[in-house]
Amino acid sequence: MIPAGSRGNGLRRPASSTLTTIPVAVSHERALPCGDPGACAIQGDLRDPHGILGHPELRAQIDLREPVVILLTAVLHFIPDEDQPYPLVDVVKAAMAPGSVVVISHATTNDLSPHAVKQVQELYAQATAPAVPRSREEIARFFDSLELVRPGIVDAACWALLLGGMERKR
Ligand SMILES: C[S@@+](CC[C@H](N)C(=O)[O-])C[C@H]1O[C@@H](n2cnc3c(N)ncnc32)[C@H](O)[C@@H]1O
Repeated sequence: MIPAGSRGNGLRRPASSTLTTIPVAVSHERALPCGDPGACAIQGDLRDPHGILGHPELRAQIDLREPVVILLTAVLHFIPDEDQPYPLVDVVKAAMAPGSVVVISHATTNDLSPHAVKQVQELYAQATAPAVPRSREEIARFFDSLELVRPGIVDAACWALLLGGMERKR
């Protein structure tokens, strides 16, 4: 999560907050000698968006009353339908101030054979989170409440199996 707007003095506030479920990733980020003093890494689970949005370290870095950029990149395909991914994203969007943007990239079943999709799902069944690649229509539902920024939902630049897009809150 990154502040998107200026603070009135024309300068962008150099602050960001990174979220992961993996404790070692948080430890690694905190141990980086050249870490940005305006950055923080927090351990959290997107399935608990209120816990993330209210996290004290995040709140110390990010003022949600100001516009922010939220990157939900390559994460929503780890949240199965039974964990309500669409309402989760709605909670995140509701917390954003006008002028904020959310960027989403998501593994897609488009152009994949049912056999290939099954292979991916079987592979991730051994992992810490299941893989839930979704169709273009299913991914588009994540973008349905805000203004979609051009060029809309397109292939993410270098990841042939991801679809991505950005939407702005007015
Ligand atoms: C493929 S990496 C993407 C990392 C980063 N977002 C990016 O775009 O480079 C997937 C990340 O999603 C995180 N993740 C998986 N399930 C999650 C969940 N339920 N809540 C929060 N993060 C999750 C993992 O910890 C991992 O850091």
